[in-house]
Amino acid sequence: MTARIIDGKALAESIRNKVAAEAAELKRSHGIVPGLAAVLVGENPASQVYVRNKVKQTTEAGLASFEHVLPAETTQDDLLALVRQLNADPKVHGILVQLPLPPQIDPDLVIATIDPAKDVDGFHVENAGRLVVGQESLVPCTPQGSVLLAKTVHPDLTGLEAVVLGRSNIVGKPVAQLLIAESATVTVAHSRTRDLEAVCRRADILVVAVGRPEMVKGSWIKPGATVIDVGINRVPGENGKSRLVGDVDFKEAMEVAGAITPVPGGVGPMTIACLLANTLKAAMVANG
Ligand code: GUN
Repeated sequence: MTARIIDGKALAESIRNKVAAEAAELKRSHGIVPGLAAVLVGENPASQVYVRNKVKQTTEAGLASFEHVLPAETTQDDLLALVRQLNADPKVHGILVQLPLPPQIDPDLVIATIDPAKDVDGFHVENAGRLVVGQESLVPCTPQGSVLLAKTVHPDLTGLEAVVLGRSNIVGKPVAQLLIAESATVTVAHSRTRDLEAVCRRADILVVAVGRPEMVKGSWIKPGATVIDVGINRVPGENGKSRLVGDVDFKEAMEVAGAITPVPGGVGPMTIACLLANTLKAAMVANG
């Protein structure tokens, strides 16, 4: 058996097109241009690439982009002052502070200072709590993208066995909450889970977010399962070049799974598409 490859690039493009059309309509009808502020502190190369892509796709969708690049030695007080300034700026509907932050800055305090109504990452405890109790909220982008990809295979997740491998606040926990909301039966597994392989093999939907290159082997996957690989790991490749791999051994998984997201081109493109969708949503809520 060869798994179907789930095309994250194509779904992300269709979401971006929809956001662009709705943003154009918001501008026409109300004169509002949704605005996203991206804050980057320091010179982490992966973060620089990520923020550059965000800025490009934001403007391509017809949204306003406000970029703030601060030096690595920025103080916590200065960053908090910028966040407060963005909270008060009516042109800014979404605020994204790129993580990780330098060691002198407490990321929890920064996230707690972002106005929850502008928290397009969905990291503020108010949005995390709203997601848990099923109230309308801004939902973290990578989890949202992961579940949308699973739904391209199973439009109705009711009663399916879902296993989430990874329990981070940014991915594992919110993915589990979204799957519960979709009426799946959800298990959250992690590094301390006993017989991880057997737990994963129960899954109709296996979402993997552990940050360990190719950890999940073919033998961990139930035949025909849907595998959503959230990992993006750079590993040494041929001829001294590096290559990107997921948290799942793609070659092995292809032989067993029913459907799988590739790396790159799976969950990755969905994150920014969902960020744009969250920014549009925040702008629409802010303007009634
Ligand atoms: N760093 C890696 N991924 C993300 C993300 O989705 N949001 C933010 N703010 N920082 C990140």
